[in-house]
Amino acid sequence: MRILHIAASPGKDASLSGATACALLAAYLGHHPDASVDTLDVWDIDLPAFDATMIAAKFAVLRAQNATPEQQAQWARAVAISQRFNSADLYVFSLPMWNFGVPYRLKHFIDVVTLPGQNWAWSRQTAIPRCWITSARCWCTAALAITRWMHPGCPMRLSRNHICGNGCALWG
Ligand SMILES: Cc1cc2nc3c(=O)[nH]c(=O)nc-3n(C[C@H](O)[C@H](O)[C@H](O)COP(=O)(O)O)c2cc1C
Repeated sequence: MRILHIAASPGKDASLSGATACALLAAYLGHHPDASVDTLDVWDIDLPAFDATMIAAKFAVLRAQNATPEQQAQWARAVAISQRFNSADLYVFSLPMWNFGVPYRLKHFIDVVTLPGQNWAWSRQTAIPRCWITSARCWCTAALAITRWMHPGCPMRLSRNHICGNGCALWG
């Protein structure tokens, strides 16, 4: 069992969502000592910009066209991060709530790892993206500051919906 802990808080040891995820993982590992945990802090990894060069590379892949050397180099950086992401059996996201959503750095990470040819492809039959990550599970821990009654709906659901919305190509 390969577990990928995606830490979305810049708070390091002071992060409440991170501490909750670590407690969850420690309990899980107590029952599954053969599982391994790879912790990926989205604030520490070198994320390539998802700029015009990257967009052109993405469409070159989608249209089976040749990309320029510059586009290929930037695409290769994204593919390396995507492959680290794709290899997990269980995803654990630790999520701070930021302005009723998640930190922008996590959105950047999701945009970089969600790549055609790496974890999704178009289905000719349905004309919608088909996800290649089908059996992995996803757990989330979330932290927020203000009281529950101030949020329209459950805050956990807000964070989870944000993850599902951003990662819909991956988790349907
Ligand atoms: C930029 C920013 C935006 C925030 N937005 C919200 C919010 O919309 N709702 C809320 O309840 N708390 C909000 N907070 C407070 C955090 O959710 C809270 O400090 C939480 O503990 C952060 O998680 P962490 O400890 O894992 O970093 C915000 C904090 C920051 C820094």
